[in-house]
Amino acid sequence: MTVMDPRDRLIVALDVPDVASAKAMVEGLGDSVTFYKIGYQLGYAGGLPLVRELADAGKKVFADLKMHDIGNTVARGVESVAKLGATFLTVHAYPQTMQAAANASKGSDLKILAVTVLTSYDNEDLKAAGYQLGVSDLVTTRAQQAQVLGVDGLVCSPEEVGNLRKLIKPEMVLVTPGVRPAGADLGDQKRVMTPARAIAAGSDYLVVGRPILAAADPKAAAEAIVAEIAQTRG
Ligand code: C5P
Repeated sequence: MTVMDPRDRLIVALDVPDVASAKAMVEGLGDSVTFYKIGYQLGYAGGLPLVRELADAGKKVFADLKMHDIGNTVARGVESVAKLGATFLTVHAYPQTMQAAANASKGSDLKILAVTVLTSYDNEDLKAAGYQLGVSDLVTTRAQQAQVLGVDGLVCSPEEVGNLRKLIKPEMVLVTPGVRPAGADLGDQKRVMTPARAIAAGSDYLVVGRPILAAADPKAAAEAIVAEIAQTRG
C-alpha cells in the first residue's frame, strides 16, 4: 500500500438519526476528518444525497449499504452508488454478488468492499443459518473468493486483520471497525483493538463511530485517534 496521510485512514461512522445531526457533526469535525461512513441509519433517513454533498466538499464517503440481491439488481445499484461519488461500498461476500459488484464498479472510482462474515455471528449462528463452515474457515474462503473475483477490499474485525493481511494480496484494502481507544466505552462491540494495534496488525482504514460521536469533544477525540495512527508503523 502507498503511504497515506494518517488522517485519511480514519473513517468516522455517521451513525446519527438525521441529516441535520450528520451535518452538524461534519461541521464540528472540520478538517480533522476526511472520510465518513454512511450506513443504514442515516442512509434510510434521507442521508444518501449527503454522499454527493460530502464528495463535492472534498470528503470521501464509504456507503455501508451491505448489498446482496440477484446479480443484475446489485450491478444497477452499484452503478447508482458510483454516480453519487462514493469511494467505498459494501456488499455481502456471496460470489454472485461480489462478481456483479466488481464488474459494475469497473471504470468508476468506486471501490467494492466485501463483508466476509458479520462480526455478530459465531459458529452456532452460522450452523443455525445452514452453513457447515465455522466463522474462521468461512472468512478465509470468502476472502479468497473476493480476491479472485476482483473485489477491492474487505471489512474485517480487528481479530481477523493479521491473518487476512497474510492471506490476500497487499493491494486489497482492509477496513476495520471494532476500534476503541484505550479506556473507551466498548458499547456493544465485544472484540476490540486500539487504533495502534489495528494498524500494526495490517489494517488500512479504521472505522470509528461512538468513541468520536459520543465524545464531549468529538474533534479532539478524532485528532487523538489520528495521532495514534500517525505514531504507529502500519
Ligand atoms: O460506534 P462504533 O465505533 O462501534 O461503530 C462502528 C461502525 O462500524 C458501525 O457503523 C457499525 O455498523 C460498523 N460495523 C461494525 N462491525 C462490523 C461491520 C460494521 O461495527 N462487522
